[in-house]
Amino acid sequence: MLVTTKEMFEKSRKEGYAIVAPDFWDSNSCKVYVETAEELGVPVILSFAQAHSEMLSVEEALALAKFYGEKASVPVAIHLDHGLDVETVKKAVDLGYTSVMIDASSQPYEVNVARTKEVCDYAHAHGVVVEAELGHVGSGDVITSENKEALTDDKSIYTEVEMAKQFVEETGVDSLAVSIGTSHGLYKGTPVIDFDRLHELRDALPIPLVLHGGSGSGDDNLERCATEGISKINVFTDFTIAALDAIKGEEYINLYKMILDADAGIKEKLKYYFRLFHTGKA
Ligand code: 13P
Repeated sequence: MLVTTKEMFEKSRKEGYAIVAPDFWDSNSCKVYVETAEELGVPVILSFAQAHSEMLSVEEALALAKFYGEKASVPVAIHLDHGLDVETVKKAVDLGYTSVMIDASSQPYEVNVARTKEVCDYAHAHGVVVEAELGHVGSGDVITSENKEALTDDKSIYTEVEMAKQFVEETGVDSLAVSIGTSHGLYKGTPVIDFDRLHELRDALPIPLVLHGGSGSGDDNLERCATEGISKINVFTDFTIAALDAIKGEEYINLYKMILDADAGIKEKLKYYFRLFHTGKA
């Protein structure tokens, strides 16, 4: 059944777990994510990142997610991940995404506020919820177990509490992606998460918090995030790695079998994350 992330977050915040938001890039990954959620009886946020448009258009992605999501026995939300421009995000609202992200986090604060508010006003008028990001979660350059000494004092990329409060008030955004030490893609070492900052943000903000860059972030870190204030954790890279690992070393002469084996690897990884994040108390 299709639901909005708002309904999902009300429950997850009350019960203290995070929902996995796996990014799908083709029909197989979309189908596998829904099947896995159904097997465990837990909700899932099917996410499609605008940056993956060379694999699927925003329209194609929605059609697939709707097909699998509508007939699912568990709650499914369809989310546009990292909407990069206001026009595309508004289009996603018109098309029928139940949740959208406008990511202007690399822009100056005022631009981020203006773009996020424009999207919120439009999406809310259409019954769609909005995620934005404050404090940029980039790709690389975070503090990890490997570079701790060199970078320990650099907290400039982390989300600031007062700024976040102001951002939420000025934009009316429904959930906020925060920067507390993760980055997209793989790390050298394990990232050092600023749990104090997470607790401060959780206590100060009235809306659910989102963690981007889940892949390779370390099980202890992720489990703590899921139970100490984060309501949604985005994961992409780890599913592609799980697919590759599942077919590594085999001399395939059958493409069909190779794809099914790769999908099985994705399924196992998603099950693992559902359990690690206590999703739906899985
Ligand atoms: P990873 O690829 O690091 O898991 O990040 C995914 C993400 O944050 C998508 O929004």
